[in-house]
Amino acid sequence: HAVDWDPEETGKSGYEHYMLKEIHEQPRALRQCLRGRVNEMEGRVSLDVDFDPERVQFVACGTSYHAALCGAHLLQRSGIPAQAFLASEYATSPPPIGEDLVVGVTQSGETADTLSALREARRRGARTLAVTNVVGSTVSRECDQTLYVRAGPEIGVAATKTFAAQVVALTMLALTTDGEQRDAIAALRDLPGNVQAVLDSSTAREVAEEYVDSEAFFFIGRGLCYPVALEGALKFKEITYEHAEGFAAGELKHGPLALVTEDTPVFAVVTGDGELARKTIGNVKEVEARDAPVIAVTDGQSDVERYADHVLRIPTSEPRTAAVLANVQLQLVAYHTAAMLGRSIDKPRNLAKSVTVE
Ligand code: AGP
Repeated sequence: HAVDWDPEETGKSGYEHYMLKEIHEQPRALRQCLRGRVNEMEGRVSLDVDFDPERVQFVACGTSYHAALCGAHLLQRSGIPAQAFLASEYATSPPPIGEDLVVGVTQSGETADTLSALREARRRGARTLAVTNVVGSTVSRECDQTLYVRAGPEIGVAATKTFAAQVVALTMLALTTDGEQRDAIAALRDLPGNVQAVLDSSTAREVAEEYVDSEAFFFIGRGLCYPVALEGALKFKEITYEHAEGFAAGELKHGPLALVTEDTPVFAVVTGDGELARKTIGNVKEVEARDAPVIAVTDGQSDVERYADHVLRIPTSEPRTAAVLANVQLQLVAYHTAAMLGRSIDKPRNLAKSVTVE
C-alpha cells in the first residue's frame, strides 16, 4: 500500500534547496520504506509481492540503474543469478528471457527508456515487477506487480532519498529469498538512525571547500561500493557540471590511472575490513603514488585512513547497508561543491526530473 503525499512535505521547509531537504529526509524516507515490512521477532521480511524467481534481469536508467546494480549484487549474494541492464541498451542485444523475472527500477515510473525495455521484455513473455516511488505511475500500471519504495515526493532533479529507498527496497527483496536474516534485519532497523548520524556529523562541506577548484573528481569502489562510486560521480557531475567519473577500483590500472594527478581528488569508498577493502586500499596506494588527494569514505574498519588526506566517516554497519551510508556522504560532497560554485542545484542545466523521451 502506498504512502499519502502530504502537501506540506513539498515545501522547502527552511532548506536552501530541495536537494538538501531531500538528503535530510532520508531517515524518514527509509522508515517509511521499511514500515510493516521487516519482522524483527521472526527475523523475516515480508513484502506484498510474490518474488521467487529463478533469475532476475533489472532494467533502469541513471541513478535507478545504480540502485539496480546494488539489487543485482544483493540477489547474487542470496544465490539468485541477477544482472542489471541500462534500459536504453536493453533492446540492442536482448538477453534470453527464459523464466527470468524482469524488474524495472524507476523513481518516477515514467522514464521512457525503462518503460520500453519492460514492454520489450513483456512482448517476449517475461513476467515483470516495477520498483517505483510513484503510486499509479505508468510503470505500476503496466507491470504484473509493483513494489513501492515509499520515499515521498522528490522535487530536486538529482535523485537522493529515492536512491536510498530503492536500495533498501531491493535489499528487502533479496532478503525475502533468504530465510532467516537477523543480522541484515537488525542493520536495516538501524539504518535510518545511522543515516541521521552521518547527516549530523558529516564534514563533507570542508572537503568540498578544499577541492572545489580541482580539475576532475574520481570515485572508486568494489562490490557494493562500486555502484556507490558510480552514483557519487553521477550526482557530482549532474549538479556541479564538473568532470567526475566513477570506476571499479580494480579498473583504474587498466586506463583511468593515466588521468590521475595531484589535481584530481579520488574518493575511495571502503567499507568493512575484508578482501575487498584490502584490494581497494591497494588501489588507493596507486593513486597516492601519483600525488592525488585521497578522500576515504569509510566505516573505520580497515586502515584506509592511513593513506587518506581526508576521511568521511560512516557508522560501522552490516556490509549490505553500508552502501547507503557511504552514498549520503557523497551526496553531501556533491551538494556543497555545487553550492560553492553557485550552480542551479534543483534544476541542473539540460536535465529534466523525468525523461519521457527515448
Ligand atoms: C538522478 O539524479 C538523475 N536525475 C537521473 O539519472 C534519473 O535517476 C534517471 O533519469 C532515471 O529516472 P527514474 O528513476 O525516474 O526512472
